Amino acid sequence: MNNKFIIVEGSEGVGKSSQIKTIENYLISNKIDYILTREPGGTQTGEQIRKIILDKNNDTNELSDALLFYASRYENYTKNILPALDSGKTVVCDRFHYSTLVYQGIVGDNSTVRDLHHIFNEIYKKTIDHVIYFYTDPDESLKRISRRSVTDKFESKGLSFLENISNAYEVVFRNMKNITKIETTGNKSATEKILVKSLDEIFFTND
Ligand SMILES: Nc1ncnc2c1ncn2[C@@H]1O[C@H](COP(=O)(O)OP(=O)(O)OP(=O)(O)O)[C@@H](O)[C@H]1O
Ligand SMILES: [Mg+2]
Repeated sequence: MNNKFIIVEGSEGVGKSSQIKTIENYLISNKIDYILTREPGGTQTGEQIRKIILDKNNDTNELSDALLFYASRYENYTKNILPALDSGKTVVCDRFHYSTLVYQGIVGDNSTVRDLHHIFNEIYKKTIDHVIYFYTDPDESLKRISRRSVTDKFESKGLSFLENISNAYEVVFRNMKNITKIETTGNKSATEKILVKSLDEIFFTND
C-alpha cells in the first residue's frame, strides 16, 4: 500500500470537519502515518491570508479572494504537503483547489479563476490520489450552519448561495475519476460506516 494524498471537499456545514475525525481514527487504527491540513491554512502565512479572506469587513472581489487562496494553498503545498508525501506520509486536506473553482470561479462567475483552475490543476492532479466529496441538501446544511454561534463571510450568505455551491460541486465532480461521494444527510454514525467502507477501498484495494 502506498501513501495517499486525499482531499475532502463539499459545501458549508455538510460535515467535512466532523467526518475527518473518522478518517483520522481510521488512519491511526490502521497504523497509517499521516498529516491533516486545512485549506487554505496550514502555514503561518496561509493562516494570516485565511483571516483576510474570511473577514466579513473585507470587501475583496472574487479574483482577489481566489489569488489569496492560491497563494496560501501553494505555500501549504510546497512547505507541508509535498514534503510529507515525499517522506511516505498520507496527507488529508480539508478543502483544496476545487473549492476555489466552485466558490469564486463558478458561483462567483469569474472566468479568470476558471482559467487559473486549469493551470493549477495540471500541477496538483499529479499528486492527488482521491477526493472524498461530502454532500447533504442545502436546507440541511443551512440548519447545521444556523446552529453555529460565529459564522464567516461565506457561511452567512443564506440558502440560495448554498444551493448554488451545492449545484456547482455536483457539476465539477460529476465526471471525475477517483472520487467518492458520501451523503451526510443521515446521522453521524451511519455516515461513518459508509465512510469506513470507502476508506477500505481507497487504501486496501488495487494495491
Ligand atoms: N452525518 C453527519 N456527518 C457529519 N456531520 C453531521 C452529520 N449529521 C449531523 N452533523 C452535524 O453537522 C455539522 C457539520 O459541521 P462541520 O463543521 O463538520 O461541517 P463542514 O463541512 O466542515 O463545514 P465548513 O465547510 O463550514 O467547514 C456538525 O454540527 C455535525 O455534528
Ligand atoms: Mg469544516
